[in-house]
Amino acid sequence: MNRKDFPLLKDTIFLDSAAGSLKPLPVLDEIMEYYKEYPINTHSVDSLLGAKVMKKIIDAKKTVANLVDASSNEVIFTSGTTDSINRAALMFEAFIKKGDKIILSAYNHSSNSLPWILLAQRTGAEIVHSYNLINDIDKKTKIVAYSQVNNTLNNLKNKINPVELYDKVKENGAILINDAAQAVVTENVSLNESDVIAFSGTKTYGPTGIGVLIIKKELLSLLKPVIVGGGTVIDYDKEIHFKDGISKFEAGSLNVAGIIGMAAGIRYMKKYDNFEKKKIWAEYAHDQLSKLKKVEIISQKGDYNVHFRIKNYEPQDVVSFLGHRNIILRAGKHCATYLFNNMKIISSIRISFGLYTNKEDIDKLVKLIENTEVFIDAV
Ligand SMILES: Cc1ncc(COP(=O)(O)O)c(C=O)c1O
Repeated sequence: MNRKDFPLLKDTIFLDSAAGSLKPLPVLDEIMEYYKEYPINTHSVDSLLGAKVMKKIIDAKKTVANLVDASSNEVIFTSGTTDSINRAALMFEAFIKKGDKIILSAYNHSSNSLPWILLAQRTGAEIVHSYNLINDIDKKTKIVAYSQVNNTLNNLKNKINPVELYDKVKENGAILINDAAQAVVTENVSLNESDVIAFSGTKTYGPTGIGVLIIKKELLSLLKPVIVGGGTVIDYDKEIHFKDGISKFEAGSLNVAGIIGMAAGIRYMKKYDNFEKKKIWAEYAHDQLSKLKKVEIISQKGDYNVHFRIKNYEPQDVVSFLGHRNIILRAGKHCATYLFNNMKIISSIRISFGLYTNKEDIDKLVKLIENTEVFIDAV
C-alpha cells in the first residue's frame, strides 16, 4: 500500500476511519472514469456503453457478495448501513406480532437500534437491550440485531463468537441481523454466520451514499419490497406484478458511481489490508496514551478503537483544538447513545484506524497532547 494513494495524508493526521475511511486514488479514478466515459443509467443500457455499465454493476455485486460469502442475488444496493437496516426492519414487519421479542445488543449503533424500536412500536413487540445476547435469546425471540464489531467499546476479550450466537438464534427460530459496518473492515464477515448483513461503502474505502443489504436467499424469497418504483415491476394495474429476483428490491436509478466506487474500495482493501495492523495500532495507541497522566482511557486494551478523555477538558473542545491543527479525531457518544447513557459516559474522544495508519500518526498525536500548553493544567 502506498500512502501516496491518500493525498490528504501529506499534511493531515487522520484517525477517524471508523466514521468514514479515506478513499484511495484508484477508487477516485474509477468513479471519474464512469462519469467521463460511460455515464449511462442502468435503466437504458441498449448500447456499448450501457453494456459496460451493466458489466460493472454485475462485477461490483460479485465483489461485494464474495466479501461475505454471499451470492450476487442476495445483495441489494442501498444508500448505506442506516438505509439497509431501516429497510430490513420494514421488510420483516409482516413476520412480527404483539408479544414477540426483539433483542438489541447494548453496544449497537443507533442505526441498528432505532429501526427495530420503531418496528416494535408499530407491532407491539417487546424490545430487550442486552449485554448478553446468547443468554437472553428464547423461543419468543424473533429478531436479534447486533454488530459483529461495533464502533465504540468492543472488547475483544468479551467478544461474542458469531457462530455460537448464530447457532443459538437458529435453535430458537429467530433471525440474526449483523450490522457489519465496522466488521467488514476489521474481521472476516460471513453470511454463513447470520441471516442479514448490512454495511456502507464509505467505511470500505469507497464513496459515501452507497451501501448494501444482504439477505439469505431462503428469507429473501419470503420478503416483499418496501421501496417501490422504476425497475421493480413487470406490470401493474390494481395489482402490482413484481419482477422475479433481486431487482424488485432496487427501485429507481442506481447510484452507479457509488456502486463502482464501493467495489473498487473493497478490491483495494482486499489487496492491502490483512486487518492485523489496525489491532497493533490500537494497542500501541492505548499504551502510549496510558503513559500520560492527563489522559483517562475509557476503552480497554484489545478494543479496536481507543476511547479516552483529557482530564478537566470537554472531549469536543479537545477534538476541535486538534482538528484545527489537521489532526482528525471524533468526540461524542459516537451514535452508541444507549451504551454511553447506560454506562454513564457523557462523551469520549475516539481514535480509529485505517489501512493507511502508521506509527508516526499516533506518535504525533500523543506528542501534541503531551506537550500542548493548553492541556497542561489537565494533570
Ligand atoms: C456500527 C455502525 N453501524 C451503522 C453505522 C451507520 O452507517 P452509515 O452512516 O454509513 O449508514 C455506523 C457508522 O458509523 C457504524 O459504525
